[in-house]
Amino acid sequence: MRLEGKVAVITGAGSGIGRATAILFAKEGAKILVADYNAKSGQETVEQIKKAGGTAGFIEVDIGKIADNENMIDTAVNLYSRLDILYNNAGLGGPTLELTTEENWRAMLDVNLTGPFFACKHAIEVMKKQGSGNILFTGSAGGLKGTGRARSPSYAVVKAGVILLTDCLSRLVGQYNIRVNCICPGVTNTALYDSHFYDAQGNAHTLNEEEKRAFMAGFNKQISLGRVGTPEEIANLALFLASDESSHITGEAILIDGGRM
Ligand SMILES: NC(=O)c1ccc[n+]([C@@H]2O[C@H](COP(=O)([O-])OP(=O)(O)OC[C@H]3O[C@@H](n4cnc5c(N)ncnc54)[C@H](O)[C@@H]3O)[C@@H](O)[C@H]2O)c1
Repeated sequence: MRLEGKVAVITGAGSGIGRATAILFAKEGAKILVADYNAKSGQETVEQIKKAGGTAGFIEVDIGKIADNENMIDTAVNLYSRLDILYNNAGLGGPTLELTTEENWRAMLDVNLTGPFFACKHAIEVMKKQGSGNILFTGSAGGLKGTGRARSPSYAVVKAGVILLTDCLSRLVGQYNIRVNCICPGVTNTALYDSHFYDAQGNAHTLNEEEKRAFMAGFNKQISLGRVGTPEEIANLALFLASDESSHITGEAILIDGGRM
């Protein structure tokens, strides 16, 4: 039990990386607040955790809204009396340069950067009083270098912001025994992976199975290990960073991409 007695809030835990992490953290003894704007899939994660004997609750949030982030932190504290881990994981994929509109640029900023910023600000107040805490982000390989996600520049720059936020916060809160780290996945097989695609009108286009196989095959050739990642592989890194095994690691952006970059 590597997270015994810990309380974790995980955003975007209704799907993909967030769900895999919520299930793993619960298995390792953490009490989880699953936060997502999709109530159905968020509740499904809670049910899966409970069925396996774990503890979890759900809160419906729009991470793009500052008040929802603050309420999410307060709810975790009210429910479980403390907050050990905040994992800012929810995120939106972005369109190409040509298809970027003011609306989706602002959504990208709100969901991927503004919301997490204010979630941290509020969580840090709680963690400071406790004398300990652990903050994680899901950044992206795309936030490290243009090779990761140049074809979607709005996404890449916002994820770069998340990485610098990790660095800044770690320097501000280390003195309170709070660590801050950022996981930077390469292509990972989740629903977001499907919405890497936009049609000519700028709408997210979900790939059919054949299109997806062809797309993956193209990526697999660029990856040293020959395949895209799984949400469970990202969750394993999150567990290491959330546990005391990584007690001297803070301010890091850790790439996990099968060697593509
Ligand atoms: N899949 C990849 O290839 C990849 C690569 C690098 C980084 N990432 C990052 O990983 C994180 C998780 O994405 P994923 O791949 O698991 O995708 P996913 O689509 O499977 O999961 C994202 C979850 O976030 C939730 N969400 C989206 N917007 C929200 C909002 N405004 N408020 C609350 N919840 C919201 C969705 O409902 C969904 O449950 C994201 O930050 C993404 O940018 C993914």
